[in-house]
Amino acid sequence: MALAETLVDQEQLRADWARGYESQPEEHAGWVSAVSGAIPPELSGTLFRNGPGLLDVGGRRLHHPFDGDGLVAAFSFVDGRCFYRSRFVRTAGYLAERRAGRLLFRGVFGTQRPGGWLANALDLRLKNVANTNVVHWANRLLALWEAAEPHRLDPRTLDTYGVDRLGGLLRDGEPFAAHPHIDPFCHWDGGAPCLVTFGVKPRFDGTSVLKIYEIGPDGLARRTQELEIDGFAFLHDMAITPNYCVFFQNPLRYDPLPYLFGRQSAAQGLRSLPGQATSVLVVPRHPSLGEPRTFQAPPGFVWHHANACEEGDTLHIDSVWYDRFESFSPAGDFRALDFAQLPYGVLARTSVDLRTGATERRELGARCCEFPVLHPGRVGRDYRYVYTAAADAPEGPGILQTLWKVDVASGASEVWSPGPRCFAGEPVFVPRPRSAAVAHLTTPDVGDPIGNTGPGEDDGWLLALVYDGARHGTDLAILDARDLAAGPVATLHLDHHLPHGLHGSFSSGRFAPEDRY
Ligand SMILES: [Fe+2]
Repeated sequence: MALAETLVDQEQLRADWARGYESQPEEHAGWVSAVSGAIPPELSGTLFRNGPGLLDVGGRRLHHPFDGDGLVAAFSFVDGRCFYRSRFVRTAGYLAERRAGRLLFRGVFGTQRPGGWLANALDLRLKNVANTNVVHWANRLLALWEAAEPHRLDPRTLDTYGVDRLGGLLRDGEPFAAHPHIDPFCHWDGGAPCLVTFGVKPRFDGTSVLKIYEIGPDGLARRTQELEIDGFAFLHDMAITPNYCVFFQNPLRYDPLPYLFGRQSAAQGLRSLPGQATSVLVVPRHPSLGEPRTFQAPPGFVWHHANACEEGDTLHIDSVWYDRFESFSPAGDFRALDFAQLPYGVLARTSVDLRTGATERRELGARCCEFPVLHPGRVGRDYRYVYTAAADAPEGPGILQTLWKVDVASGASEVWSPGPRCFAGEPVFVPRPRSAAVAHLTTPDVGDPIGNTGPGEDDGWLLALVYDGARHGTDLAILDARDLAAGPVATLHLDHHLPHGLHGSFSSGRFAPEDRY
């Protein structure tokens, strides 16, 4: 009986998961009226989220959710209320396919145009779907997709202005990563914050070109670098410290021929190289610190880093590690997941001794997790708490259904489950205004807080989208990050669903209609 119930539950869970990938073609705007609990009045600003909104075009299913057009959602908090808006990014591809009423482009992650390989061969156009992340920086709201330029949006209306080349910093079609990191206290810039990001482009000669961009709060480039990397570099994320940018070049090879001949999409040519070391590329952020260096770390694959910090001559980089890269399969349906066969993401710390070159890796917890985040004031610094979406079970692979908080110093952890038919997305940590940790960072005479974990680092809220399969709707959960187990202080119930999403960020800007900014 118990086994039968378990099987039914797993079937239900798979069906719920699949339904969370139904397209959401509608756009919405309005004050959220269905709220359980109370939105904290001190929570002020806007949560921006991005992810695929369309999982089929003209009645034809996409092969992979990463190919779906970006649907940006904004939750603007004003005096204990929330104004919600969602809009598609008006990319050239989205507009063309909407006009045509059918699928016109190959997707990078598996979607092929109708008509077999002949219809796809030598069609090397990239459809920029602008679906991976959204960040508000230097008065620009940017929807990000790592293989091409960002799109600039109006933060209040989410109207699309168009492709943004950042005042000439980017060339036509230039890659621009979807994982910017904001140094809260850049000592190269007198303590001003600085956005650090990159773009990487593999070349057919077997090398890759990496560009690093550091952009000030005025939108102007503070520092840029261009490096040639040996081998094929598939870099999705990076980590920063006050002095370094860190990249993990995981062991992969790339076979472009099936893509060129129309038999597979671009990313399906990626293959894991089991047993080969990971190259850790450490790039100084300032020329006075010398040349870039490469170190060897254990095999595996990393999509996302939680944080990095410096301790004397040692760098610590906390990341979600998989034992290998899972190829984007040309076969099958991504909705029909076998949860037991999912890649097992484990939070682990890689330490690199910059003097001796020695590296080591140790696990920070066993729970399967993804989408690690932290207090924005601790980026690049010693820190205590990482927050992730995580599996329900304490170990083993599993779909992301809970939020998980880990104390990286003590190993203690805490988990919150929204319900057996719910799926949790990436959390975002928002510091409570005037909290001790914020004051610690912004008091001028404290200086750069390297090495000092501020008091009350978890004094703030954790915001996460939760897809509830029982009602085919999406909630926004707001939790007190000091006590996840207590459950949300407020839950906002949207009257529709947002498909399982990717990344987002919080801006202190208030973009509800009545507000001036
Ligand atoms: Fe990502």
